[in-house]
Amino acid sequence: MVKDMGDLTGRVAIVTGAAGGIGRAVCETLAMHGAIIAGADMNQEGLNETIRLVEEAGGQMSGFPLNVMELSSVQEMMKSVDEKYGHIDILVNVAGILSGARYDEVTTEMWDKMIDINLRGYHYCNQSVVPYMAKNGGGSVVSISSQAGQVGGWLGSVAYSASKGGILALTKGYARQTQQYHIRFNDVAPGRMLTPMTAARGDKPEGIPVGRLGTAQDVANAVYFLASDLSAFVDGTCIDVNGGEFMRS
Ligand SMILES: NC(=O)c1ccc[n+]([C@@H]2O[C@H](COP(=O)([O-])OP(=O)(O)OC[C@H]3O[C@@H](n4cnc5c(N)ncnc54)[C@H](O)[C@@H]3O)[C@@H](O)[C@H]2O)c1
Repeated sequence: MVKDMGDLTGRVAIVTGAAGGIGRAVCETLAMHGAIIAGADMNQEGLNETIRLVEEAGGQMSGFPLNVMELSSVQEMMKSVDEKYGHIDILVNVAGILSGARYDEVTTEMWDKMIDINLRGYHYCNQSVVPYMAKNGGGSVVSISSQAGQVGGWLGSVAYSASKGGILALTKGYARQTQQYHIRFNDVAPGRMLTPMTAARGDKPEGIPVGRLGTAQDVANAVYFLASDLSAFVDGTCIDVNGGEFMRS
């Protein structure tokens, strides 16, 4: 009988953006496979609701306040998680914002905010988690990028596409530079999804070979694979969860 490489029992998983659509599905999915969830978000009310749902399903989760724009906030959150549980095994970077502004409407303020949250925030989280994972013998970091970062986006602003494309490079850089610590870094690139973030756009599934929009659960399933030992030989890459709309050559 083969060992269950997907078992996460006892592993501590930090999930940023845990109050949002994709973050919540990630928390529920990793908890279902045995992980102890440290959910982090700036939305305390949404975070409480995620904790309620995870606990209701029999999982273990606690919440931590976080603003990924502030390095001190990221460091404080990591320290609190490590003090509470003694180790950090998984980090899932989900916290992000979306903007639909056209290229000629993107102001300096909008550009800076988008890059600060979506790209610098991921860097802060990666940079801060490395020492904790290193002292524990390794870990897995999964970052949510986007199809917009691969093809330039549809309705998202150029700042959004640039931030998500930057994540793909950030992940490869971290995968190369932390190999001595046995930390794997990978991305998930969702395509057109039906989540609270995009519901107002009214997307239709035209052009998606699978014939539907994606769900937060579709993304969470790919995150689970990359977070667990099922992907032990997968590093510095990206899983596309887009129903076949964008196919790599
Ligand atoms: N929804 C989609 O269709 C889609 C597609 C591709 C990629 N993504 C990416 O997936 C991620 C999550 O998307 P979602 O649909 O769950 O969005 P969402 O808006 O439901 O959740 C985002 C979460 O991030 C949190 N957040 C925002 N700024 C923060 C900050 N400065 N510090 C801490 N937390 C902060 C919000 O409070 C929210 O809970 C984002 O990175 C998004 O770009 C989403």
